[in-house]
Amino acid sequence: MASSSSHSPASLTAEPSHGLNGRIRVPGDKSISHRALIFGTLAVGETRIEGLLEGEDVLATAEAMRWLGAEVTRNADGSWSVWGVGVGGLREPEQPLDFGNSGTGARLVMGLVAGHPITATFTGDASLSRRPMGRVISPLTQMGAHFHAREGGRLPLTLTGARRALPISYRSPVASAQVKSAILLAGLNTPGVTTVLEATPTRDHTERMLRAFGAEIASETDKDGLLAISLTGEPELTPCPIAVPGDPSSAAFPVVAALLTPGSEIVVEGITLNPHRAGLYTTLMEMGGDIEVMNQRQEGGEPVADLRVRSSRLKGIEVPPARAASMIDEYPVLAVAAAFAEGTTTMLGIHELRVKESDRIAATASGLRANGIKVRESEDGMIVEGRSGEAGGGGHVTTHMDHRIAMSFLVMGLAAQKPVTVDDASMIATSFPDFERLMRGLGASFAGRAQ
Ligand code: S3P
Repeated sequence: MASSSSHSPASLTAEPSHGLNGRIRVPGDKSISHRALIFGTLAVGETRIEGLLEGEDVLATAEAMRWLGAEVTRNADGSWSVWGVGVGGLREPEQPLDFGNSGTGARLVMGLVAGHPITATFTGDASLSRRPMGRVISPLTQMGAHFHAREGGRLPLTLTGARRALPISYRSPVASAQVKSAILLAGLNTPGVTTVLEATPTRDHTERMLRAFGAEIASETDKDGLLAISLTGEPELTPCPIAVPGDPSSAAFPVVAALLTPGSEIVVEGITLNPHRAGLYTTLMEMGGDIEVMNQRQEGGEPVADLRVRSSRLKGIEVPPARAASMIDEYPVLAVAAAFAEGTTTMLGIHELRVKESDRIAATASGLRANGIKVRESEDGMIVEGRSGEAGGGGHVTTHMDHRIAMSFLVMGLAAQKPVTVDDASMIATSFPDFERLMRGLGASFAGRAQ
């Protein structure tokens, strides 16, 4: 089981590199991987998963599914099998469920447990224990679950699910696919129709996968312009083979590295360009990034493509706040790209970044400043002054247990004039265990950690 104690901080330095070249596949999508394990647990029979992300966050969810009664195994060919227990069939876990660094795992599984009459304790590492859980505690309490949480709705917490859950219609105050998914998961073992109303649509992997497993779920815009996602409870979920596409949030790092490092040309194969996930790529193209979208196709119910990326001179832009949900995890690496652009890049409407694995506005701004970049920070945004390809580097960056802060600033070091050091690269294993090896294969140069 992933646990906070398994990490010893390891600093890592990225050095100015020559052009990056080659073809890569990035690991499976993290959001889809969590969901494949969770929905597999709720289906009766075997769900076979190809391309599951074997990062610590997802492995923690796999372990939690075992404690809740599913049989979860890795097959000899690298695929995974989940033998599910069916909606309503969860077993009470004999020990606390440890979600490590993963907000997605913790919040989605709270939804899952909330619809079952069992008690479970949720724990996580220091980063996850600081993150707000009230956003799921509140709607799940309305559905009949009981929570005992630390002050401010923080982990560790103990949850007793509803004996007979009540369907709700809920408008979330935050644009969050985790909140939406937690409610829909609780709605599965609930009679009647559970509805989530979204002012800003968020990633829809839960809806797509529920449909593929045979649930009745409708998404339509209501008279107030909200997206209403309605799930009919108590379905029988039928296992469905899942091919997990490459993660666009992981691909963001080699893509930005190739754009910024002169003399680069890389191809990233097989990533999902689900419109609710592709905001970074639209933004980079608007900044003048040479990104060619090739071989667009459907795989496993998700739109998938290959990207050819060549080094480019970027220009600063205003990123539309309405795009935030479709690139919410990509702002730190976009801010690094902005540091190399000509002119100013404005990113607003991103208050949610303050409650991710770290306060990503603060962590990104201080990392940029450590590398000589001017940045203005506000409560819900940042404005980065680009240095037209001349970003100096040379800084030491504090990553605050945040994998995406670590990878973003390592990308900076590859393209800057001087190396960039991150204090702790160990958290990269939560989402992209192969990051360093894959980047080295493209020609990236790192120092400071044994291979
Ligand atoms: C995720 C949703 C996003 C994202 C996270 C994964 C998901 O969080 O930041 O990395 O898989 O549902 P929010 O929904 O809370 O914005």
